[in-house]
Amino acid sequence: MADFVPRSVLVTGGAGFIGSNFINHFMPANPGCRVVNLDILTYAGNLKNLVGVERNSDYRFVKGDIGDADLVSRLLAEERIEAVIHFAAESHVDRSITGPEIFVRTNVLGTQVLLEESRKHWQSGAVECFRYLQVSTDEVYGSLGETGYFHEETPLAANSPYSASKAGSDLLVRAYHETFGLPALITRCSNNYGPYQFPEKLIPLIIRNIIEQRPLPVYGDGKNVRDWLHVKDHSEAIETVLKKAKPGEVFNIGGNNEWQNIAIVQLLCDMLDSRLGRAAGENRGLITFVTDRPGHDRRYAISAAKIKRELGWEPSYTFERGIAETIDWYLANRQWVDEVTSGSYREYYEQQYGGR
Ligand code: NAD
Ligand code: DAU
Repeated sequence: MADFVPRSVLVTGGAGFIGSNFINHFMPANPGCRVVNLDILTYAGNLKNLVGVERNSDYRFVKGDIGDADLVSRLLAEERIEAVIHFAAESHVDRSITGPEIFVRTNVLGTQVLLEESRKHWQSGAVECFRYLQVSTDEVYGSLGETGYFHEETPLAANSPYSASKAGSDLLVRAYHETFGLPALITRCSNNYGPYQFPEKLIPLIIRNIIEQRPLPVYGDGKNVRDWLHVKDHSEAIETVLKKAKPGEVFNIGGNNEWQNIAIVQLLCDMLDSRLGRAAGENRGLITFVTDRPGHDRRYAISAAKIKRELGWEPSYTFERGIAETIDWYLANRQWVDEVTSGSYREYYEQQYGGR
């Protein structure tokens, strides 16, 4: 089958962590392809992540809601969109425990609007070819015991309001493919790390707290396991699925890189001791065990055998290299961290895009 090469893509949530890394990777790799970034700019959306592409004439940013059917319909038509790559979501598990409603609104209802407008656009015949790609998560599979892996056939067993909302949206994608034939794809990736991740997630939170010599909160006994993948590898996997996969398929994405949380936190402490000129072992003194997250999934581990076998994707980062580069990025970008945590980065939108 020849590769699907879209000429115009709608990226939702492109100002967030993975969406911005994806655009920064995709645009130079696909010159001439139009990229429209639809993002409502919640606390997690930051246009400064995209300074490298914002002057590219093929790039357009639109501030708006994926749940706004008129806006989505207009963008699909006027930009003759051939692929929707759907990152936009509420993404943080802890926030879904304290406030689940917005997770259902954005992740379930917002996805349904995007699917419905995609269906109408595709069925109108306005474009010759079309793909809808849903960026999902391994969390929809629930929790593993000490052994075994999540496969694409593993039953969905979401445990947090966040993962339930992602599972709900995945099922809507499946339904739009089965019922209407919408050429849709789903990817399910493990935990990502890398530049531009909001410092509420484990790795950037711990790096920031070490730098500022604040307590390092480790939930429960610290022995929960996550399977970490560099965000650049995730971006390349999404591009591969978009271009090479048969519609209707699901692909797991992961790097075979399991770590207990406490081991990750200790590693970050030790790598930052030398970088910050502190004594060996000093940062570990900041580790503080705190009350566990309710419903905390014990272990995630993903089998990425299908995408490797069928589409030839392989991660290129070793964890050693990826984590060292990530630490160094956060050390070199203290202003970015300060701005996103204080919220002052929001003024950038008004300066750059106000009035447009
Ligand atoms: P993020 O929270 O960093 O970014 C989400 C983006 O979506 C933000 O820019 C936000 O402004 C935007 N957004 C939120 N609601 C919107 C709405 N109604 N309309 C338009 N834009 C809206 O998230 P992330 O970590 O980059 O995750 C991106 C996607 O990847 C999510 O769908 C998430 O479920 C999935 N995912 C994340 C990981 C991970 O480790 N972070 C792993 C696997 C899958
Ligand atoms: O697996 C993919 C998922 O990974 C994505 O779908 C989610 O969007 C993303 O947020 C992430 O979910 P997690 O809950 O696994 O990530 P988080 O960084 O919040 O936590 C990672 C692990 O670290 C988890 O076991 C909880 C623990 N933790 C987290 C925080 C923020 C702590 O021990 N202390 C902390 O302060």
